[in-house]
Amino acid sequence: MKVLGLVASYRKFGNTEVLVKEAALAASAGAEIDLLRLTDLKIESCKGCMACVFKPESKCLIDDDMEEFLEKMRLADGLILGAPTYVLAPPGILKLLLDRFLMLYGRYDDFRGKKAVAIGVAGLPGWAPFTVPFLNYFLLAFGYDAVGSMMAFSPGPGEVLLDERSVLEASSLGAKLLAAMQGRPVEKKAGPNTCPVCGAEFFAIRSNRAECPICNVGGRLVPEGDGFSIVFDPQGLQHHRWTAEEMKRHFTDWILQTGKRYMELRPEIEARKAKYRRLRYDQ
Ligand SMILES: Cc1cc2nc3c(=O)[nH]c(=O)nc-3n(C[C@H](O)[C@H](O)[C@H](O)COP(=O)(O)O)c2cc1C
Repeated sequence: MKVLGLVASYRKFGNTEVLVKEAALAASAGAEIDLLRLTDLKIESCKGCMACVFKPESKCLIDDDMEEFLEKMRLADGLILGAPTYVLAPPGILKLLLDRFLMLYGRYDDFRGKKAVAIGVAGLPGWAPFTVPFLNYFLLAFGYDAVGSMMAFSPGPGEVLLDERSVLEASSLGAKLLAAMQGRPVEKKAGPNTCPVCGAEFFAIRSNRAECPICNVGGRLVPEGDGFSIVFDPQGLQHHRWTAEEMKRHFTDWILQTGKRYMELRPEIEARKAKYRRLRYDQ
Protein backbone atom coordinates (compact mmCIF):
# COMPACT_ATOMS: atom_id res chain seq x y z
CA MET A 1 0.00 0.00 0.00
CA LYS A 2 1.10 3.53 -0.75
CA VAL A 3 0.34 6.82 0.99
CA LEU A 4 0.94 10.13 -0.78
CA GLY A 5 1.58 13.24 1.33
CA LEU A 6 0.69 16.53 -0.34
CA VAL A 7 2.24 19.74 1.03
CA ALA A 8 0.61 22.96 -0.13
CA SER A 9 3.12 25.37 1.47
CA TYR A 10 6.18 26.98 -0.11
CA ARG A 11 7.91 26.98 3.28
CA LYS A 12 10.22 23.98 3.30
CA PHE A 13 10.15 22.21 6.67
CA GLY A 14 7.41 24.62 7.72
CA ASN A 15 4.44 23.63 9.88
CA THR A 16 2.50 21.94 7.08
CA GLU A 17 5.43 19.82 5.99
CA VAL A 18 6.42 18.65 9.47
CA LEU A 19 2.83 17.69 10.38
CA VAL A 20 2.29 15.89 7.08
CA LYS A 21 5.55 14.03 7.70
CA GLU A 22 4.49 13.20 11.28
CA ALA A 23 1.25 11.70 9.96
CA ALA A 24 3.19 9.90 7.23
CA LEU A 25 5.55 8.43 9.82
CA ALA A 26 2.60 6.83 11.62
CA ALA A 27 1.14 5.56 8.33
CA SER A 28 4.55 4.14 7.37
CA ALA A 29 3.91 1.32 9.88
CA GLY A 30 1.92 -0.31 7.07
CA ALA A 31 2.42 1.73 3.92
CA GLU A 32 5.09 3.06 1.61
CA ILE A 33 5.28 6.88 1.68
CA ASP A 34 5.69 9.36 -1.13
CA LEU A 35 5.70 13.14 -0.66
CA LEU A 36 4.80 15.81 -3.19
CA ARG A 37 5.30 19.54 -2.67
CA LEU A 38 2.40 20.97 -4.63
CA THR A 39 4.35 24.20 -4.95
CA ASP A 40 6.86 22.37 -7.21
CA LEU A 41 4.12 21.73 -9.76
CA LYS A 42 3.32 24.00 -12.66
CA ILE A 43 -0.47 24.20 -12.55
CA GLU A 44 -2.36 26.66 -14.70
CA SER A 45 -5.84 28.00 -14.25
CA CYS A 46 -8.77 26.14 -15.83
CA LYS A 47 -9.70 27.99 -19.01
CA GLY A 48 -13.37 26.99 -18.80
CA CYS A 49 -13.39 25.46 -22.32
CA MET A 50 -15.25 22.35 -21.03
CA ALA A 51 -13.46 20.14 -23.60
CA CYS A 52 -12.77 17.57 -20.84
CA VAL A 53 -16.54 17.12 -20.44
CA PHE A 54 -17.91 17.61 -23.94
CA LYS A 55 -14.98 16.02 -25.82
CA PRO A 56 -13.68 13.52 -23.25
CA GLU A 57 -11.68 11.70 -25.97
CA SER A 58 -9.42 14.78 -26.21
CA LYS A 59 -7.24 15.47 -23.17
CA CYS A 60 -7.19 18.78 -21.30
CA LEU A 61 -5.68 21.32 -23.70
CA ILE A 62 -3.52 22.91 -21.01
CA ASP A 63 0.10 21.77 -21.08
CA ASP A 64 1.11 21.68 -17.42
CA ASP A 65 1.70 19.17 -14.59
CA MET A 66 -1.98 18.35 -13.92
CA GLU A 67 -1.82 14.87 -15.46
CA GLU A 68 1.35 14.12 -13.46
CA PHE A 69 -0.49 15.18 -10.30
CA LEU A 70 -3.51 12.97 -11.09
CA GLU A 71 -1.22 10.04 -11.87
CA LYS A 72 0.57 10.41 -8.50
CA MET A 73 -2.82 10.40 -6.77
CA ARG A 74 -4.02 7.44 -8.84
CA LEU A 75 -0.97 5.37 -7.85
CA ALA A 76 -1.46 5.99 -4.12
CA ASP A 77 -3.99 4.14 -1.99
CA GLY A 78 -4.28 6.89 0.61
CA LEU A 79 -3.65 10.60 0.88
CA ILE A 80 -2.48 13.10 3.52
CA LEU A 81 -3.33 16.61 2.38
CA GLY A 82 -1.69 19.46 4.29
CA ALA A 83 -2.02 23.19 3.80
CA PRO A 84 -1.32 26.47 5.57
CA THR A 85 -3.95 29.18 5.91
CA TYR A 86 -3.58 32.27 3.76
CA VAL A 87 -6.18 34.95 4.43
CA LEU A 88 -8.69 32.64 6.15
CA ALA A 89 -8.42 29.78 3.63
CA PRO A 90 -5.84 27.45 2.03
CA PRO A 91 -3.51 28.95 -0.60
CA GLY A 92 -4.43 29.32 -4.27
CA ILE A 93 -2.55 26.25 -5.53
CA LEU A 94 -5.31 24.06 -4.09
CA LYS A 95 -8.03 26.05 -5.82
CA LEU A 96 -6.10 25.85 -9.10
CA LEU A 97 -5.97 22.05 -8.72
CA LEU A 98 -9.59 21.78 -7.64
CA ASP A 99 -10.84 23.94 -10.51
CA ARG A 100 -9.42 21.31 -12.91
CA PHE A 101 -11.40 18.44 -11.37
CA LEU A 102 -13.77 18.18 -14.34
CA MET A 103 -10.81 16.39 -15.97
CA LEU A 104 -11.86 13.42 -13.83
CA TYR A 105 -15.00 13.10 -15.89
CA GLY A 106 -15.05 9.52 -17.18
CA ARG A 107 -12.28 8.30 -14.83
CA TYR A 108 -13.78 9.22 -11.52
CA ASP A 109 -13.41 5.65 -10.28
CA ASP A 110 -9.61 6.11 -10.16
CA PHE A 111 -10.03 7.84 -6.79
CA ARG A 112 -13.52 6.96 -5.60
CA GLY A 113 -13.50 5.60 -2.03
CA LYS A 114 -9.76 5.88 -1.40
CA LYS A 115 -9.04 7.08 2.13
CA ALA A 116 -7.63 10.51 2.95
CA VAL A 117 -6.97 12.85 5.87
CA ALA A 118 -6.48 16.62 5.98
CA ILE A 119 -4.13 18.77 8.05
CA GLY A 120 -4.57 22.53 8.19
CA VAL A 121 -2.24 24.98 9.90
CA ALA A 122 -2.75 28.65 10.68
CA GLY A 123 -1.21 31.40 12.75
CA LEU A 124 -3.97 31.82 15.28
CA PRO A 125 -7.36 30.36 16.23
CA GLY A 126 -10.37 32.20 14.86
CA TRP A 127 -8.51 33.14 11.66
CA ALA A 128 -8.97 29.96 9.64
CA PRO A 129 -12.69 29.29 9.17
CA PHE A 130 -12.41 27.91 5.63
CA THR A 131 -9.22 25.83 5.96
CA VAL A 132 -10.53 22.45 7.15
CA PRO A 133 -13.84 22.68 5.24
CA PHE A 134 -11.94 23.52 2.04
CA LEU A 135 -9.41 20.71 2.50
CA ASN A 136 -12.22 18.24 3.12
CA TYR A 137 -14.28 19.32 0.14
CA PHE A 138 -11.16 19.22 -2.03
CA LEU A 139 -10.77 15.55 -1.04
CA LEU A 140 -14.47 14.80 -1.41
CA ALA A 141 -14.66 16.45 -4.85
CA PHE A 142 -11.83 14.18 -6.03
CA GLY A 143 -13.84 11.21 -4.74
CA TYR A 144 -11.86 10.43 -1.59
CA ASP A 145 -13.38 9.15 1.63
CA ALA A 146 -12.24 11.91 4.03
CA VAL A 147 -11.81 10.01 7.30
CA GLY A 148 -10.34 12.72 9.52
CA SER A 149 -8.91 16.20 9.75
CA MET A 150 -7.13 18.49 12.18
CA MET A 151 -6.14 22.10 12.59
CA ALA A 152 -2.95 23.37 14.28
CA PHE A 153 -2.01 26.96 15.11
CA SER A 154 1.59 28.26 14.99
CA PRO A 155 2.97 31.22 13.03
CA GLY A 156 6.71 30.53 12.59
CA PRO A 157 8.08 27.83 10.22
CA GLY A 158 8.31 24.61 12.24
CA GLU A 159 7.10 26.34 15.42
CA VAL A 160 4.28 23.81 15.60
CA LEU A 161 6.86 21.28 16.83
CA LEU A 162 6.67 23.02 20.21
CA ASP A 163 2.96 22.20 20.34
CA GLU A 164 3.13 18.57 21.36
CA ARG A 165 -0.64 18.08 21.26
CA SER A 166 -0.76 18.96 17.57
CA VAL A 167 2.22 16.75 16.77
CA LEU A 168 0.48 13.85 18.55
CA GLU A 169 -2.78 14.62 16.73
CA ALA A 170 -0.99 14.47 13.37
CA SER A 171 0.49 11.12 14.35
CA SER A 172 -2.95 9.79 15.37
CA LEU A 173 -4.38 11.03 12.09
CA GLY A 174 -1.71 9.09 10.17
CA ALA A 175 -2.52 5.97 12.19
CA LYS A 176 -6.22 6.50 11.51
CA LEU A 177 -5.56 6.78 7.79
CA LEU A 178 -3.63 3.52 7.84
CA ALA A 179 -6.39 1.79 9.83
CA ALA A 180 -9.02 2.99 7.35
CA MET A 181 -6.88 1.85 4.40
CA GLN A 182 -6.54 -1.57 6.02
CA GLY A 183 -10.31 -1.80 6.31
CA ARG A 184 -10.40 -1.43 10.07
CA PRO A 185 -13.33 0.60 11.45
CA VAL A 186 -12.51 4.25 12.17
CA GLU A 187 -14.73 6.80 13.81
CA LYS A 188 -15.43 9.97 11.83
CA LYS A 189 -15.80 12.53 14.58
CA ALA A 190 -17.50 15.91 14.23
CA GLY A 191 -17.85 18.37 17.08
CA PRO A 192 -21.23 19.83 18.06
CA ASN A 193 -22.75 22.23 15.52
CA THR A 194 -20.14 21.23 12.96
CA CYS A 195 -20.90 19.85 9.51
CA PRO A 196 -20.30 16.09 9.82
CA VAL A 197 -19.18 15.96 6.18
CA CYS A 198 -16.68 18.84 5.75
CA GLY A 199 -16.18 20.19 9.27
CA ALA A 200 -17.56 23.67 8.53
CA GLU A 201 -18.74 25.66 11.50
CA PHE A 202 -20.75 28.16 9.43
CA PHE A 203 -24.27 27.55 8.21
CA ALA A 204 -27.08 29.19 6.27
CA ILE A 205 -30.07 29.64 8.55
CA ARG A 206 -33.40 29.00 6.85
CA SER A 207 -36.40 29.18 9.14
CA ASN A 208 -35.72 26.65 11.92
CA ARG A 209 -32.99 24.86 9.96
CA ALA A 210 -29.22 25.23 9.58
CA GLU A 211 -27.66 24.13 6.28
CA CYS A 212 -24.04 23.58 5.31
CA PRO A 213 -23.61 25.50 2.04
CA ILE A 214 -20.61 23.36 1.10
CA CYS A 215 -22.12 19.89 1.46
CA ASN A 216 -25.82 20.61 1.09
CA VAL A 217 -26.69 18.87 4.36
CA GLY A 218 -28.57 20.32 7.26
CA GLY A 219 -30.73 19.81 10.25
CA ARG A 220 -33.23 21.26 12.66
CA LEU A 221 -32.24 23.91 15.19
CA VAL A 222 -33.28 22.48 18.51
CA PRO A 223 -33.31 24.61 21.69
CA GLU A 224 -30.51 23.65 24.06
CA GLY A 225 -29.72 25.63 27.21
CA ASP A 226 -29.69 29.32 26.27
CA GLY A 227 -29.11 28.60 22.58
CA PHE A 228 -29.68 26.03 19.88
CA SER A 229 -27.99 22.94 18.58
CA ILE A 230 -28.23 21.43 15.10
CA VAL A 231 -29.71 17.95 14.80
CA PHE A 232 -28.59 16.80 11.34
CA ASP A 233 -30.99 14.73 9.21
CA PRO A 234 -29.38 11.25 9.11
CA GLN A 235 -31.02 10.58 5.73
CA GLY A 236 -29.66 13.84 4.29
CA LEU A 237 -26.14 12.93 5.39
CA GLN A 238 -26.31 9.86 3.14
CA HIS A 239 -26.98 12.09 0.13
CA HIS A 240 -24.60 15.01 0.56
CA ARG A 241 -23.36 16.93 -2.47
CA TRP A 242 -20.12 14.93 -2.82
CA THR A 243 -21.51 11.37 -2.84
CA ALA A 244 -20.87 9.36 -6.02
CA GLU A 245 -24.61 9.41 -6.84
CA GLU A 246 -25.02 13.17 -6.37
CA MET A 247 -21.84 13.98 -8.30
CA LYS A 248 -22.94 11.70 -11.15
CA ARG A 249 -26.34 13.31 -11.14
CA HIS A 250 -24.76 16.76 -11.24
CA PHE A 251 -22.68 15.73 -14.26
CA THR A 252 -25.44 14.05 -16.22
CA ASP A 253 -28.52 16.06 -15.26
CA TRP A 254 -26.86 19.46 -15.17
CA ILE A 255 -23.38 19.89 -16.68
CA LEU A 256 -23.99 17.72 -19.75
CA GLN A 257 -27.39 19.32 -20.34
CA THR A 258 -25.90 22.82 -20.32
CA GLY A 259 -24.12 21.97 -23.60
CA LYS A 260 -27.31 21.08 -25.52
CA ARG A 261 -29.18 23.99 -24.00
CA TYR A 262 -26.42 26.42 -24.92
CA MET A 263 -26.32 25.29 -28.55
CA GLU A 264 -30.06 25.92 -28.85
CA LEU A 265 -29.81 29.35 -27.22
CA ARG A 266 -26.58 30.34 -28.96
CA PRO A 267 -28.02 32.39 -31.87
CA GLU A 268 -29.97 34.53 -29.43
CA ILE A 269 -26.98 34.89 -27.07
CA GLU A 270 -24.64 35.83 -29.95
CA ALA A 271 -27.11 38.44 -31.17
CA ARG A 272 -27.19 39.99 -27.70
CA LYS A 273 -23.38 39.81 -27.40
CA ALA A 274 -22.88 41.97 -30.50
CA LYS A 275 -23.31 45.17 -28.49
CA TYR A 276 -20.47 44.17 -26.15
CA ARG A 277 -18.17 43.02 -28.95
CA ARG A 278 -18.38 46.56 -30.35
CA LEU A 279 -17.26 48.04 -27.00
CA ARG A 280 -13.48 47.57 -27.40
CA TYR A 281 -12.30 49.05 -24.10
CA ASP A 282 -9.40 46.57 -24.12
CA GLN A 283 -7.75 48.07 -27.25
C1 LIG B 1 0.17 35.38 3.03
C2 LIG B 1 -0.15 34.78 4.37
C3 LIG B 1 -1.42 34.87 4.86
C4 LIG B 1 -1.75 34.32 6.09
N1 LIG B 1 -3.04 34.38 6.52
C5 LIG B 1 -3.38 33.82 7.69
C6 LIG B 1 -4.74 33.83 8.14
O1 LIG B 1 -5.64 34.35 7.50
N2 LIG B 1 -5.02 33.23 9.33
C7 LIG B 1 -4.06 32.66 10.10
O2 LIG B 1 -4.38 32.19 11.18
N3 LIG B 1 -2.76 32.60 9.68
C8 LIG B 1 -2.41 33.15 8.49
N4 LIG B 1 -1.12 33.07 8.05
C9 LIG B 1 -0.13 32.33 8.86
C10 LIG B 1 0.13 30.91 8.36
O3 LIG B 1 -1.06 30.21 8.13
C11 LIG B 1 0.94 30.17 9.39
O4 LIG B 1 2.17 30.83 9.57
C12 LIG B 1 1.20 28.71 9.03
O5 LIG B 1 1.75 28.05 10.12
C13 LIG B 1 2.10 28.58 7.84
O6 LIG B 1 2.33 27.24 7.57
P1 LIG B 1 3.70 26.72 6.86
O7 LIG B 1 4.80 26.93 7.87
O8 LIG B 1 3.47 25.32 6.53
O9 LIG B 1 3.87 27.57 5.64
C14 LIG B 1 -0.76 33.65 6.84
C15 LIG B 1 0.54 33.57 6.34
C16 LIG B 1 0.85 34.12 5.12
C17 LIG B 1 2.26 34.00 4.59
